[in-house]
Amino acid sequence: MPEIVISTENLHKFYGSRDQKVHALKGVSISIAEGEIVGVMGPSGCGKTTLLNCLSGLDSIDDGNISIQGNTLTDLNDDQLSELRAKKMGFVFQTYNLLPVLTAVENVELPLLVSGFSGKQARTRALEKLGEVELEDWQHHLPGELSGGQRQRVTLARALANDPAIVWADELTGNLDSENERLVMDLVIQLNKENNQTFVIVTHSDYVGGRTDRIIQMKDGEVV
Ligand SMILES: Nc1ncnc2c1ncn2[C@@H]1O[C@H](COP(=O)(O)OP(=O)(O)O)[C@@H](O)[C@H]1O
Ligand SMILES: [Mg+2]
Repeated sequence: MPEIVISTENLHKFYGSRDQKVHALKGVSISIAEGEIVGVMGPSGCGKTTLLNCLSGLDSIDDGNISIQGNTLTDLNDDQLSELRAKKMGFVFQTYNLLPVLTAVENVELPLLVSGFSGKQARTRALEKLGEVELEDWQHHLPGELSGGQRQRVTLARALANDPAIVWADELTGNLDSENERLVMDLVIQLNKENNQTFVIVTHSDYVGGRTDRIIQMKDGEVV
């Protein structure tokens, strides 16, 4: 049996003040095994982004429990949480867009420099990752000089730069046409097979959902 790397028990999340509360997650319990590609689907506002933010330790929770690779998130202090994120997780989030003034390779090496690689090591590894998404020829281009699909592949290379155990993606293929959507999913599945990384992918796309191993369907703050 594959190991469970992500699990939650009765997770609750509220936003807002006392008189204007939004109950964004209403007792979510899930478990995800190592190497799974899981899609999270459901209507806008149902809590998908909130779930991803909580699971990845970017946002706090109000009740329940989250365990990531055996670590109970609420037991970790800020430094331990940052270290878990930097070493074990990769992010493809709209709020972490590519920096427009950095080239493709510079964008990919940025998280490596942050997590302590030397400049030389970071460059070598960033080029290797750009190779995996078939963009080594585009390393010196700025994001504005790349197509949407190429930019998303750079984002994927950046998320994978640290060889994270878990990759979180919010709207992985959000702005892509069907051809690029297919290319990005081909890559995700290939990388998952090669490295046994676990992917949790929020998506509105039935095509993307259809290529995951399993869908977590949400509605109004609950898993249905
Ligand atoms: N920072 C926030 N402050 C207040 N309410 C929020 C915040 N983020 C999300 N919400 C609310 O929480 C609910 C779930 O939002 P979200 O997780 O973004 O949904 P989804 O990603 O499925 O569209 C929605 O009602 C949304 O308005
Ligand atoms: Mg969202």
